[in-house]
Amino acid sequence: MIEFRNVSKTFNNGGSAVEALKDINLTIQDGDIYGIIGFSGAGKSTLLRTINALETPSSGSVLVDGEDINRLSKQRLREKRKNIGMIFQQFNLLETKTVYDNVALPLKLNRVPSKEIKKRVDEILKYVELEDKKKVYPSKLSGGQKQRVGIARALATNPSILLSDESTSALDPKTTGAILKLLKKINRELGITIILITHEMNVIQEICNHVAVMENGRIVEKGEVIEIFGSPKENITKNFVKTVINDSVPEILVNGIKSEKRFNKVLRLKFLDSESTDSVLSGVNKKYDVETNILFANISEIQDRVLGIIIIQIIGAESEVAGAESYFAEHNVGCRQIFLD
Ligand SMILES: Nc1ncnc2c1ncn2[C@@H]1O[C@H](COP(=O)(O)OP(=O)(O)OP(=O)(O)O)[C@@H](O)[C@H]1O
Ligand SMILES: [Mg+2]
Repeated sequence: MIEFRNVSKTFNNGGSAVEALKDINLTIQDGDIYGIIGFSGAGKSTLLRTINALETPSSGSVLVDGEDINRLSKQRLREKRKNIGMIFQQFNLLETKTVYDNVALPLKLNRVPSKEIKKRVDEILKYVELEDKKKVYPSKLSGGQKQRVGIARALATNPSILLSDESTSALDPKTTGAILKLLKKINRELGITIILITHEMNVIQEICNHVAVMENGRIVEKGEVIEIFGSPKENITKNFVKTVINDSVPEILVNGIKSEKRFNKVLRLKFLDSESTDSVLSGVNKKYDVETNILFANISEIQDRVLGIIIIQIIGAESEVAGAESYFAEHNVGCRQIFLD
């Protein structure tokens, strides 16, 4: 478990103070894939780097498995860091060393016997599907292959935590997908906790269970990914979610909706793991004297769960519409009125 307790960090930038982290409180459970999203300069990398003590908080504490990472002896910190692997956007490979030697490096630094090194490097290169690239230099590899080497190097010391700082940002969408799949496999099969920084919501959707949204050094919203996607609260979060589920009423329909003379409302419905959105809608139409027009519909898969967002215009007498709204609530459908401007 990783716990941030009231963590703040102020940098001194040539006389002016930059508050990179402001009173961060966050708990990351073992086995989780925790995403941290935010714009450039939000403080994401600084936050990540406090986990392995590459940055020291100005105040507050970071506990890794119950131990304050900034209160360890040098020897203990070295051991602790073996348990925390890290991967980067620019891969950070040594260009003058082969794939094998890049992956072997952390083991050599930890004075692991060479026989053991060979066994471990072979094993881990096989795991990331690069056993045939052992003797190749990084300049001969594609971006995706380079990141696989980065991942193999990060896993060489058998860590239980993997920190990923924009590890897919330099890759094309297809390669990004393959790397995210590999990270998910590492999490599931090896039980490694992953903390992943990104500025892309589709990366969060793809593999994270939890997400924290950072803005100006603060965590402004956090929670389960499916909850945040279904009901984002802060504006910044809403905008990030919109990049993957653009749940707005199409412009072309707006005039028609507004010209409706009968009593009506525009409702945003949220279905979570619902068997059938159809049955709820037809149920409402049977039970209440209302007309429902679908203006927008989206079904997203998020970590084996299903999130449906549907926007409808519902038309009928006020009491019938109110009845329909309570029907939605009774069937565990989130329901919120939308006002068109
Ligand atoms: N070593 C440093 N010295 C001074 N200021 C720093 C240092 N590292 C980060 N900062 C400042 O702290 C703030 C947060 O930076 P950080 O790198 O954590 O943001 P980020 O969210 O990772 O951004 P990006 O998406 O661009 O990587 C920025 O204003 C940055 O300029
Ligand atoms: Mg960064």
